[in-house]
Amino acid sequence: MAVDLLLGLQWGDEGKGKIVDVLTKNYNIIARFQGGPNAGHTLEFDGIKHVLRTIPSGIFHEKSINVIGNGVVIDPVVFVKELEGLDKYHIDYVSKLIISRKAHLILPTHRLLDAASEASKGKAKIGSTLKGIGPTYMDKTGRNGIRVGDLELETFKQKYKSLAKKHVAMIDFYDVDIQYDLDEMEVEFFESLEKLKKLTFIDSEEYLNQAIKSEKTILAEGAQGSLLDIDFGTYPFVTSSNTTAAGACTGLGVAPGKIKEVYGIFKAYTTRVGSGPFPTELFDDVGAKMAKVGHEFGAVTGRARRCGWLDLVALKYTCEVNGVTQLMMMKSDVLSGFDHLKVCTSYNYKGEVIKHLPYNIEAENVTPIYTNFKCWKEDLTKMTEASQLPKELNDYIDFLEKELELPIKIVSVGPDRKQTIPR
Ligand code: GDP
Ligand code: IMO
Ligand code: MG
Repeated sequence: MAVDLLLGLQWGDEGKGKIVDVLTKNYNIIARFQGGPNAGHTLEFDGIKHVLRTIPSGIFHEKSINVIGNGVVIDPVVFVKELEGLDKYHIDYVSKLIISRKAHLILPTHRLLDAASEASKGKAKIGSTLKGIGPTYMDKTGRNGIRVGDLELETFKQKYKSLAKKHVAMIDFYDVDIQYDLDEMEVEFFESLEKLKKLTFIDSEEYLNQAIKSEKTILAEGAQGSLLDIDFGTYPFVTSSNTTAAGACTGLGVAPGKIKEVYGIFKAYTTRVGSGPFPTELFDDVGAKMAKVGHEFGAVTGRARRCGWLDLVALKYTCEVNGVTQLMMMKSDVLSGFDHLKVCTSYNYKGEVIKHLPYNIEAENVTPIYTNFKCWKEDLTKMTEASQLPKELNDYIDFLEKELELPIKIVSVGPDRKQTIPR
């Protein structure tokens, strides 16, 4: 069988966790392929809300196997807390969760380096989640990183000590005031490693390719969003990995030809958390209403998410870069009752009207050009079938499908598993 792929088309928090949970019943294996505890994926069912960070969103289904691929970076401390959070639900994660030996470890000093780097940038800071993501991927590409498989070696402690020592010197180099007690952090780190070692480490590329041969169904779960991709995002205000479709190949070891469906997921409007350009951002009451109704606060850091209209220029770009085959529109319920809606269909870029995403999308270069829409008044949250959706919402959907040349196959009308309408 092939691998299907689900990824976010905006700046993250599109609702990936919810939809992976909804789709898991159709798959044997759910696999995360990049990112780490900077992700916060929310699932809601039976009146309970769960936020997952590194663990794939298929974990609550009895039969699914959940793989953490080589492209993921794991913080043992955060990870063990996440596991402990599952204990009260009696989730058998020891048999359902397996980890690639090639996944890199986030050390306590990576977190400190993240904080030092951000502090040194002042106003130009990325707005990182400060989970150590950037420094860990830097060590990976710099060929200094420590991997899960190293835990099985006798030289692990030595490797750790030498890398941590180097990090301490680097933190000093930043010349910023970062207070820390490394001894204390190390106690927590090494305790967490002992718990991590109770899980199964595998050569996940081998495991997944065997699974493909034996007709198992696999869903690759993206993290972050395509506009946070290290290559194709709004650099430098991005994360440190490839969040786009190609990242699934390198982050799992599956060949491009093995990818079948690419589910692209987007909110009916746009949000962003952290710094960086956002052409359709709203600074008025309308933006404030989106934030309030949509509860737009980061699942990881609790920071307020910036809100704005849907940006079709950016969305078209991310559909293309990812090879999206079908779309899913989230949080449609949030827009109910707005006076009107706007969709950005082109940019005025330095005096010229363009329909592609240019190199610079800062406010001084780009002014969005909008098409207006009537908004629906109905509360969508109790609707269960496409036939119930109001005319104005159908008009909005039809327009997006035409512009993006892709079908919108799911309309989400609330955070719960059940609030999901197939089309
Ligand atoms: P992810 O990182 O892509 O998994 O998304 P997050 O979990 O960070 O953020 C999405 C938020 O929107 C979560 O609080 C979800 O519970 C919530 N959510 C998902 N889909 C919907 C929806 O259709 N309507 C509403 N109102 N909330 C939704
Ligand atoms: P999910 O998977 C939203 C953003 C941060 C910051 C930038 C870099 O929940 O959609 P990093 O910690 O990676 O160095 O931060 O990327 N960011 C996210 N924004 N959702 C996420 O993940 C994010 N992961 C990182 O806010 O602007
Ligand atoms: Mg999130």
